[in-house]
Parts: sequence; structure tokens; C-alpha cells
Amino acid sequence: MQENVIEVQDLVKQFKVGGGPLKPKYEKIINGMSWHLKKGDHVAIIGQNGSGKTTLMKILAGIYLPDEGTVRVAGHDVKRELDEVLKKTSFVAPALSFLKKLSLRDILKFYGYSIGGEIEPAIKFLDDFGAGFMIDELAEVLSEGQKALLRFAIALLKDPEVMLIDEVTANLDVIKKEKLLNYLASKKDRISFIIIDHDVTTVDRLTNKLLMLKRGGTVMKLGDVNEILETIPYRYDVDVMPRRLIKKDYWDKYEQPWRGIGSHIQFICQTKKEVSELTTKLLDDKEVLSFTTSGLSIEDIYFFYLLNEDYASSEGIGRIGFEETTLF
Ligand SMILES: Nc1ncnc2c1ncn2[C@@H]1O[C@H](COP(=O)(O)OP(=O)(O)O)[C@@H](O)[C@H]1O
Ligand SMILES: [Mg+2]
Repeated sequence: MQENVIEVQDLVKQFKVGGGPLKPKYEKIINGMSWHLKKGDHVAIIGQNGSGKTTLMKILAGIYLPDEGTVRVAGHDVKRELDEVLKKTSFVAPALSFLKKLSLRDILKFYGYSIGGEIEPAIKFLDDFGAGFMIDELAEVLSEGQKALLRFAIALLKDPEVMLIDEVTANLDVIKKEKLLNYLASKKDRISFIIIDHDVTTVDRLTNKLLMLKRGGTVMKLGDVNEILETIPYRYDVDVMPRRLIKKDYWDKYEQPWRGIGSHIQFICQTKKEVSELTTKLLDDKEVLSFTTSGLSIEDIYFFYLLNEDYASSEGIGRIGFEETTLF
């Protein structure tokens, strides 16, 4: 039987948002949320800013306790067996900062001591990522990328069963990030990953499930990445790099839905025929510098579900409108 690594049942988490001491006002950031994750699955939590992703992660990491409902992580109840949960989970968060005047070695020793883990593997990890020569330097000289690596090194001291990663790959350069993703992906059999990350590659590489949060504290959807992609009523993106900035309605003439993403224009197509007809015309367009065609990705899920104004009533949405959207 496959057991669940995460079980969230009727979870409520609220924060005080104002009011006086006699009449405090609370807001439910998570409002009756239920979902579970089987062992062997890995999930990316996605949702707009303020939808409660970090709050949820802190609850799974045993940092915040639930106000109502039950949460079990790696087989243990976060309220009743917090010690066990803390032993088995590592939370990697950008908010973890370091005492400036401690060396990396001292920082690892400190965490190693408080967690009860050996620091040698963590030193080896830093070494593998080219930060080994810094081990006796003070934390104050670390770059943001090196701090991100140190946060992972600390998280790995525990040999965790569950690893919660909240947007910490952002500061890594392309090569280190690639290496880190390979490293983490190689541990998928032993560690369940729960990540928040805007980067499509990271989400694709580390997870197979998506948990989509709705503002107001509930789950919009939890499912296989591929199954969710199936529900999007278009299949291809044609991403156009214009030669220069021109009025956006220039692109309307193609009579194909499009959206602006920064300086790019992205057309969406439902069939290969549409793609080939569109790209044939684009080849002759003097305003087009280059274009690329791709299948659906996590980005499309963001666009379709999370940025679409009327996603709440999204039973069989038609095509995406012509309105301008920005990424994340
Ligand atoms: N400790 C806290 N006290 C009060 N409000 C909080 C606290 N933590 C988060 N919030 C509020 O909860 C909401 C969700 O925050 P968060 O979980 O960080 O969202 P996300 O990570 O999806 O952007 C925000 O409105 C935030 O201001
Ligand atoms: Mg957050």
C-alpha cells in the first residue's frame, strides 16, 4: 500500500490583520483546505502572490501550527508529533539568514549540532558546487548564490524525507542551478519534494504534481502536471520577438489570440495547422525578428488558470482574450 507523505485535512490558518486588542480582526489565509500527496510524488505549489503558498509551506515545515484541521507530514501529526516532523523535514527558505561574523564551517557546525547531523556531507556538497574554498570565510562575504547553496547544505544535514523549497533557486547562476537540479532530482526516490518556484524548468524537473492555490485559501486544483495541461484548450505557443517596439494591436491582424509578455508576443494555437499557417505568415513579416514554437508548459497553466480574470467560472473557458498579461 502506498502511504501518504502529506495529509492536509480541513486546514485553517488565520492571521491577525488589525482591530484593537479587545476586538482583534482575523483573516483566514487558508480556509478549509484538504489535499494529500502520496509517497513518490513531488508537488509544486503555484498561485498568485498572497495566495498562501509560503504560509502553507511553513505549516508543513512545522513553523506555524494549524488553527483548525489536521496536517500530517511523513506520517506524523504536526500538532502532536512536532519533533518527529521537524526531524524528517527540511525547509529551505530565502528568509534563513546567517550571522555575519561566523564562518561557513561554524555555521554548519552550529546547525549540525542543533540538528544532530554530520557536517562532512554538507562540506562535500559545498565543495562539489565550487564553494568549498570558502569554508573558512565569514558569512558576510557570501554572494546571494553562495548563500542559496549554504541553505541547501544546511537542509541536507538532516537527511530529510521531505524537502520544502521556497523559491531559493532564483539567485543561482544557470550552471549551478542545472547542477543543483540534477543533484536534487537524483534524490527523488528518497526525498519528497514540495516546492514553490516560478521557474518552469525547476518545476518540470523536480515535480510531477501541481497544487494550485486560489486566493481566499482553498485549492483550485491538485493533479498531474500532464493532466492539468490537458485541460487547457490550446496546445501550442508561438513566441515572437519583434524587431522593434510597435503598437500592440499590430498583432491583431493575424486573427489568432495573443498576449504580450514583456517585449515578446505570444500567440496561442489549438492545432498544428494553425501553427503552420501562422508561422508561414510570420516569416514574411518585416516586424518579426525571430520566433519559436513550443508545446504547453507550466507557464501556460499560470496564464490560463491563475492570471485569467474569470478563472473562477472557468468551466470550459474559450480562448484567452487579447488583454495584456505579465508573467507572475
Ligand atoms: N505571520 C503573518 N502575520 C500576518 N499575516 C501574514 C503572516 N504571514 C503571511 N501573512 C499574510 O498571509 C497572506 C499570504 O501570504 P503568503 O503565504 O506569504 O503568500 P504567498 O507565498 O502565496 O505569496 C499575505 O496576505 C500575507 O500578508
Ligand atoms: Mg511566498
